[in-house]
This record gives sequence, C-alpha cells and structure tokens, in this order.
Amino acid sequence: MATNRTFTMIKPDAFGEGNSGAILKMIEEAGFKIIALKLTQLNEELAGKFYEVHKERPFYKDLCDYMSSGPIIAAILEKDNAVADFRKLIGATNPKEAEKGTIRKLYAKSIEANAVHGSDSDENAAIEGSFFFSETEKVNA
Ligand code: CMP
Repeated sequence: MATNRTFTMIKPDAFGEGNSGAILKMIEEAGFKIIALKLTQLNEELAGKFYEVHKERPFYKDLCDYMSSGPIIAAILEKDNAVADFRKLIGATNPKEAEKGTIRKLYAKSIEANAVHGSDSDENAAIEGSFFFSETEKVNA
C-alpha cells in the first residue's frame, strides 16, 4: 500500500550553487507539502550511518566525504503516492539518464553530486525521516 510521506535531502552541490529555492519551488509545485524542514550539515560519521546500506559499495567512502562536505537541507514531504511520485520528479540517480524536466536533469552535476536524495521505499522514508526529525518537529499540514 502506498503511504503518503517521503524524505528528501538537497545535497551539498545543489545547496552550494544556490539552487535550494528553485528545487523547493519545483517540489511544492508538484503538489508535495512540507511537513518538516531543516538546514543542517552531516559529519562523516552521520553520513556513514545514513548511507550504511551502501557500505560495501566502492563509492561509499567518497559518498560519505561528499555528503559531509557542506550544508544540506533535509525535509519530510507529504503527497499521495509520495515515494514513487517524488522519484519521478527527481529523475534517475545518474543525471545523464534523468528525464528532461526532472530535478536531477536540471541541477545535478554527476552520479554522486546528484542534487537531491529521495527515499526508495515507504519503510526507508520513515527511517530516514526519523534520522533527522523528532515527532515534535513535524507539523500537521
Ligand atoms: P541517493 O539517492 O542519495 O542514494 C545513494 C547515493 O549514492 C546516490 O543518490 C548517489 O549520490 C550515490 N551513488 C549511487 N551510485 C553511485 C555510483 N555508481 N557512483 C557514485 N555514487 C553513486
């Protein structure tokens, strides 16, 4: 069953280039409501924890270095069919394969510096949202 929340991060490349406002505008215009949002920065240890599922991958160390290299915006978003619809809005992980008009096609620089993160399942959306936000930081939109 589709639930109605997903989790996203605007990554250091997109934040550093000043694209956060444009990306949040695309997210809201696509019908997502912001339930929680914060500007923060991961250290290597926290980035490692967040991406622990990838720890055996060859890109894990670089990914953790990159994700802790600058500020990010973390957010919980609400919409019907949130996980799937958000992945459609952001496009493929590799921006070279992302469809025209998607956030990654417009703003990502590479497969690693790919502008935004989007949860890949309802279960991970809940886990990732709780990684950054307590219950009292979520509004009833
Ligand atoms: P994200 O959606 O945040 O989930 C895992 C991240 O790992 C992904 O976006 C990319 O930033 C990164 N990633 C996935 N595959 C590769 C790869 N082949 N090389 C480098 N980074 C990758």
